[in-house]
Amino acid sequence: MRQLTLPLDGIKTYQPEINYYDNLATILSGDLNYQENGNSNNTHQSHKAHSFPAKFPPQLPRQFIIELTNKDDIVLDPMMGSGTTLLEAYLLERRVIGFDIDPLAVLLSQVKVQPFDIPNLKKTGSRIIEEANKALTLYSNTLLHEKEKRFDLETSRFIDYWFALETQLELLALLLEIEKVEDKKVKEFFLLTFSAIIITKTGGVSLALDLAHTRPHKAKVVISKAGKFIVGNEDSEKPKHSILTKTLRSPLIEFEKKFFQIIRGVLEIHPYNFPPIISYGNSQSLPLAASSIDLIVTSPPYAANAIDYMRAHKFTLVWFGYPIDVLAHKRNTYIGGEGFIKLPFIELPNRVIKVIEPVSQKSRSKGKALSRYYSEMTLVLGEMYRVLKSGKAAIVVVGNSTLTGEDAKIHDCLVEIGRAIGFKVPGVGIRQLDRNKRMLPAGTDINKSSQIQQRMHEEYVIGFYKP
Ligand SMILES: C[S@@+](CC[C@H](N)C(=O)[O-])C[C@H]1O[C@@H](n2cnc3c(N)ncnc32)[C@H](O)[C@@H]1O
Repeated sequence: MRQLTLPLDGIKTYQPEINYYDNLATILSGDLNYQENGNSNNTHQSHKAHSFPAKFPPQLPRQFIIELTNKDDIVLDPMMGSGTTLLEAYLLERRVIGFDIDPLAVLLSQVKVQPFDIPNLKKTGSRIIEEANKALTLYSNTLLHEKEKRFDLETSRFIDYWFALETQLELLALLLEIEKVEDKKVKEFFLLTFSAIIITKTGGVSLALDLAHTRPHKAKVVISKAGKFIVGNEDSEKPKHSILTKTLRSPLIEFEKKFFQIIRGVLEIHPYNFPPIISYGNSQSLPLAASSIDLIVTSPPYAANAIDYMRAHKFTLVWFGYPIDVLAHKRNTYIGGEGFIKLPFIELPNRVIKVIEPVSQKSRSKGKALSRYYSEMTLVLGEMYRVLKSGKAAIVVVGNSTLTGEDAKIHDCLVEIGRAIGFKVPGVGIRQLDRNKRMLPAGTDINKSSQIQQRMHEEYVIGFYKP
């Protein structure tokens, strides 16, 4: 019998299985601009439940999870923020573990990665809104009394400065009803809804104009629902003030709207055998066994407090019972904070010291902040190395920063630190950033040199491989 000879063109020839390290390098050198691919609306609704600064696009963790792990593998995000990695991993049926030092990040991630009984949520939501409305009309004096009981003087001052009295009463009416919910998970869902009406780009129901990019600014003119001037007066309402004018929104109405928006996200979540572990925790000392994790996908904070999480989050956290002085103290403990904190002595690689030097020469305090950041990140990368299984990777996404006009070379330095710890770095991917969409720090401290300007609009995806 005549043997058939096949033309070679167009036929898939056998390729040995690409190994993990090469696969990681290939992903990192590929296109990581997910938003530009037009897929950004194609993500899970829950990612939009609550605003959060510097979230990464869900497609990013998703790609690495799909390509580098299998079902039931353990995926960790030790600085989970809004829980983007965790939700994606959970939806892909991976076991998920997440930590954050920020109480709002913990609440948000817990609610996002949690299946709910939707009819029960709807029933509870209607009851909360109905009872809060009743309390507002019947017991407003009790609500005022409640305010005095709950907050210390300094916290009360903060609340009075940023929230109109009518808003405070509605928020308290809602909060009292939410606190009556017995099921912890359901209560968390409603606390998150409560927070989502305060923390928005435009400052939500507070008197702030902006709770995202900059220091919050109070509106110069605020008009109540009944048309009364709460802040400023008629004379203030000249055209030059128009962008600083805010019309008060009712927390009860906003809560109802937000509730229906968030519930659309939880509808699609299906329960997975392994319940997620999501908790308050410090990425510099993880409560995890060595060599236990299959993949880490995470993004640490920016250096030198470029994104001040607490600046916006305290607008909600005071209502949850955190006194304002406790929050101020807590703020300094976040990675990338600017104040002094006690850290063990950490030897930084020479190249990192060379980056810190010019910053220190221009400003001692900025130099210290940068040195603190790299020391903190040494501890974090050390922990990641410890908990990863060998032959597995940590994907670390970082933006760049300038301090005193000097390039802080964040990704170069982190690569250097990672290598000193023992990681191999198969590649660093670059993504273009849409700074407005991502709630990133306003570029006030940007040197005019175009190369640095350009790097501020990029984000780096570092692949750390544990041999
Ligand atoms: C850039 S955000 C993470 C955003 C996240 N990738 C997302 O998509 O939402 C960085 C997070 O690190 C957290 N963080 C700061 N210091 C920390 C620490 N010592 N331990 C754990 N988390 C910390 C911040 O609270 C913040 O939520």
